[in-house]
Amino acid sequence: MHERRDFLKASLALAAGVAVSSASRSFASTGSFPAGVVYTADNPGQWAAKVGSHAPEVTKAGKTITVATKHPMSEIHYIVRHTLVAENGTVIGAMTFDPEDKEAISTFELPNDAGSRVYATSFCNLHDFWVTEFTL
Ligand SMILES: [Fe+2]
Repeated sequence: MHERRDFLKASLALAAGVAVSSASRSFASTGSFPAGVVYTADNPGQWAAKVGSHAPEVTKAGKTITVATKHPMSEIHYIVRHTLVAENGTVIGAMTFDPEDKEAISTFELPNDAGSRVYATSFCNLHDFWVTEFTL
């Protein structure tokens, strides 16, 4: 349990750092996410074989954003948390999962000032921190 709490703290701090720093540019498009710290579908690093089950997928229906990580959920290996962060650094929402949850899917309502870009994050307890950038 202590380890899970540490993961949550690390992912929140990292999400906040990504969001704050993203105000003036797109990290994913510049490839400037720190290697070995933040993983993306385009830069999966050591987890290249894990992209399909770890990079969060983002869909939009009106003001509703759905974040899905197509990852199995079990006591020893699961998605810990999703966040959705606006390009201005505002954390739009977060969802913490339990290993007993059947799937890692979360929904968030976009505020009117979300900007034109959002970042969806997904944290796996074994395969680290993933980000998908999404243009609204
Ligand atoms: Fe994983």
